[in-house]
Amino acid sequence: MKHVFLTLMLTLVSGMAAAAGGSGYPLDPIETDHSDKASLQRGAALYQNYCSGCHATGFQRYERVADDLGIPHDLMLDNLVFNKGAKIGDLMTNSMDAKEAKQWFGSAPPDLTLVSRVRGEEWLYTYLRSFYEDPKRPWGVNNKVFPDVGMPHALMELQGVQVDTCQGADPTARDPLTGDKMCGLVVDPKRKGSMTPEEFDLAMYDLTNFLSYSAEPMRTERQQLGIYVFLFLLVFLVFAYLLKREYWKDVH
Ligand code: HEC
Repeated sequence: MKHVFLTLMLTLVSGMAAAAGGSGYPLDPIETDHSDKASLQRGAALYQNYCSGCHATGFQRYERVADDLGIPHDLMLDNLVFNKGAKIGDLMTNSMDAKEAKQWFGSAPPDLTLVSRVRGEEWLYTYLRSFYEDPKRPWGVNNKVFPDVGMPHALMELQGVQVDTCQGADPTARDPLTGDKMCGLVVDPKRKGSMTPEEFDLAMYDLTNFLSYSAEPMRTERQQLGIYVFLFLLVFLVFAYLLKREYWKDVH
């Protein structure tokens, strides 16, 4: 009975988490890896160059990122810090005025330090790759997982302009013979970006990886620590068992 209840609860909770995506658009899977320093460095470079003009990651410091990612402080300051006069120990804030930003975009760009945990990594990875042309929107683009988003497509020069070939049809539908997707978001061949779709996906993997790291810089350490704790408990179990045998020797 207990098991049935537990299974039911788990199903409910995971169902709720899936529904939290909101738009119902299928999310693409991603397995982030915080030990891949090269990927995190590329992600940090993308983030600082293309996102930090509007967004802050204000719960994170430049120094911590530089140290965790293995970037020397002077290289970090010279190449990846664009706030004038910022010091290496400063928080990664942003000087955009929230009121003005609201006027420009309809809503102020939120802080992104924790966004991968609030929205989920799969949501973030899919969001970054799901901007498509929509002349009805103020910036000419819309987003599949965040309908009517106020953010412009900041990476258009890399990705190019995607068009939606589904036009309302089911984006998950597959050809029964070949198994290929019937429709979806496709880069317009006349308006390509500087990256191929495969390169862009890899770049968005790096960017998502970086924002996932930013939301939990301790993750790798936490997972390692967990293994040590289990090992300790295992060794402790031997002594606890021996002690128990000693105490109960005279009773039995
Ligand atoms: C020109 C300014 C601008 C740039 C550049 C920009 N964004 Fe945004 N972004 C916004 C605004 C404005 C919103 C709020 C949209 C809304 O609520 O409708 C937003 C929203 C978001 C959200 C959704 C947050 C949430 O949970 O609601 C994410 C994620 C995001 N941006 C990531 C990025 C990333 C990653 C980059 C860099 C590739 C980037 N943004 C570049 C302006 C910008």
